[in-house]
Amino acid sequence: MDAPKKRVFSGIQPTGAFTLGNYIGAVRNWPLLQDEYDCIYCVVDQHALTIRQVPAELRKRSYEAAAMLLASGIDPQKSLVFIQSHVPQHSQLAWVLSCNAQYGELGRMTQFKDKSSKHADNINTGLFTYPVLMAADIMLYNAHYVPVGGDQKQHVELARDIAQRFNGAYSETFVLPQPMIPKVGARVMSLQEPTKKMSKSDANEKSFVLMTDSADVIMKKFKSAVTDSDGVVRYDVENKPGISNLMGIYSVMTGKGFEEIEKEFDGQGYGTFKTAVAESVIDTLRPVQDEYNRILADKPYLEGVLKDGAEKARYQANKLLSKVYRKVGFAQF
Ligand code: TRP
Repeated sequence: MDAPKKRVFSGIQPTGAFTLGNYIGAVRNWPLLQDEYDCIYCVVDQHALTIRQVPAELRKRSYEAAAMLLASGIDPQKSLVFIQSHVPQHSQLAWVLSCNAQYGELGRMTQFKDKSSKHADNINTGLFTYPVLMAADIMLYNAHYVPVGGDQKQHVELARDIAQRFNGAYSETFVLPQPMIPKVGARVMSLQEPTKKMSKSDANEKSFVLMTDSADVIMKKFKSAVTDSDGVVRYDVENKPGISNLMGIYSVMTGKGFEEIEKEFDGQGYGTFKTAVAESVIDTLRPVQDEYNRILADKPYLEGVLKDGAEKARYQANKLLSKVYRKVGFAQF
């Protein structure tokens, strides 16, 4: 018999339209893992609540996030797809883990420091314990690997520390999870300030491409991308961050290496290069966008997938949570 497949868990927040950065750095890679691993992909609506949300919007965006996962190629026959709040064991485990996570270590999380300075009027305790809930997401299914962008590495390492600490205190229970960070395109940068990460919360709409942008809009955004005055398509992150970012995007879209791209655009202006990058993005996104619209329009199908996913997730989550409850000494009969 084959060795059992290792498990992969990842989560995505339903906080708005996905950017090209989310697609390249995360979602695009997830379907590629489905055959080799036992994959679980979760729409983490409880994490989204750490920032003030408009309820109707959050609900709508949870559907959209799930539709985007499916449209990107996640097959519900192979992987589990569900919404976090549909599986109450996530927050139940989070409580136990919070009693095994130190105040000091949570305070050192870079994302907490960033977000609390950005949302100084709402530094709620959820924002602080966010990484504990994330650890619970991962550990509830004993995931080995956690595909995330570079900005989430610290959180996965914290989950690993908590898992190790729990195992030490209560005997072997949890797998020690590891981040899985894509080599190419892990960080797609802003088209306007290419030393900053591409983000949909950027005030300048020209700085990001959304998965739902039309072909015209995508073309315009790439044409106005900030580059440099050197005029040569060459990969050099330090001195040519704008061009290097566009090369990174083009490389992911076409599968071409940097040297090949440099040759392709040798002696040509940035205009030609930018148009080619935009076209590669438009062509790659088109089928995903069509599928996304089709799935979103078919609510019964989407709800069916999510209901089924949550049911299977609850079954597995329950087994692990009972074990944890028994190990920590909660009375069970
Ligand atoms: N914190 C992650 C992000 O913002 C989302 C997330 C929540 C997650 N739970 C997770 C990612 C578990 C991986 C595994 O991108």
